[in-house]
Amino acid sequence: MQGDGITERKAEHLRVAIEEDVEVPVGAGGTFDAIRLVYQALPELDLEAIDPSVTLFGKRLAFPLMIGSMTGGTAEAGVINRRLAEAAARCGVGMFLGSQRVMLERPDTVATFAIRDVAPEIPLVANIGAVQLNLGVTPADVRSVADRVGADAVVFHLNAAQEAVQAGGDTRFAGLGERLAEAVATVGLPCGVKEVGAGFSIDAVRRLARLPLAFIESAGKGGTSWTLIEGRRATSADGRQLGALFADWGIPSVTSLLACVEHGGGVPIIASGGLRTGLDAARAIAAGASLTAMALPLLRAAARSVDAVVAELEAFRRALVTAMFLVGARDVEALRRTRVRIDRRARPEVYEGRVDDPHVLEGDPR
Ligand SMILES: Cc1cc2nc3c(=O)[nH]c(=O)nc-3n(C[C@H](O)[C@H](O)[C@H](O)COP(=O)(O)O)c2cc1C
Repeated sequence: MQGDGITERKAEHLRVAIEEDVEVPVGAGGTFDAIRLVYQALPELDLEAIDPSVTLFGKRLAFPLMIGSMTGGTAEAGVINRRLAEAAARCGVGMFLGSQRVMLERPDTVATFAIRDVAPEIPLVANIGAVQLNLGVTPADVRSVADRVGADAVVFHLNAAQEAVQAGGDTRFAGLGERLAEAVATVGLPCGVKEVGAGFSIDAVRRLARLPLAFIESAGKGGTSWTLIEGRRATSADGRQLGALFADWGIPSVTSLLACVEHGGGVPIIASGGLRTGLDAARAIAAGASLTAMALPLLRAAARSVDAVVAELEAFRRALVTAMFLVGARDVEALRRTRVRIDRRARPEVYEGRVDDPHVLEGDPR
């Protein structure tokens, strides 16, 4: 399975993401601790009685976490996907696959995405770059790659910043909103849209809200940076420089999450982008998310073993349940209704300069 550009690129993405420092700091007001939960000293419930389960595509998740979209297409990616899937099945969470475009060029790579034998029941989401719809990929192609892995749904990723920095990246985004609308209407499975770590503005979310989406994954800045990764991989000096210049490009995670929650027309929102703990998940859900997703830490665990992924997932669950106990939320619905305080600098209309805000200081990094 070696030799063509796409599989080599995938292998390099994995190597850089696993071995190098690929996360960008967001600064004050951008990370999930911009959402403050309010402690209830008298929660009036037993920790044991807390039920963090939710339903997705008619299937039960033991707690509201999806393993983020990552990989596929190489032998190493196949091992990682199987470890992630096995851990997901053991812990009762769901999984997004990495981009399956490679399956259209190299049908034999399906084996590196196929995980249903180890995780027959988990919610599983197929993945493809939305820009591929402008480059000849049809809704029928998308449906076929989803069906061949037994996916419950499809997510289209938007990654303009990554493609712009990647040498030879796919940057033909003109008219893509319309292509996406056609695809969502005809694929015949629940469809979602996600970013890859550069987040969504209010305008971007409003455009997406016109589509009949099953979910939007907010994927804001604050975790894995694809502009940083592409800059690291660049072979030319100006490619490296461009990647470094745009390394922290994007809308911070909490800002993107709030834009999605408040302007997404009621579509369920999956919070992600630097979301690292069950406490971050509790904060995101209290701010209006329905689910959460985490990518990089689970990739690094999967590079070690299934047990390492299970340990990450169990720690995540424990922190989420602890936070639910401390705010007195018996279930995820109650958590969504709990009181939160949000740093004003994280608010999308403040971040985007749509309101004059006396609380935002001159020269503030936001
Ligand atoms: C190694 C790696 C590969 C990724 N590949 C994809 C992909 O193929 N499709 C996609 O939609 N997102 C992809 N992502 C982006 C993640 O799904 C996620 O949006 C992003 O990494 C931010 O989350 P994090 O900070 O938890 O890593 C990838 C992330 C990593 C770390």
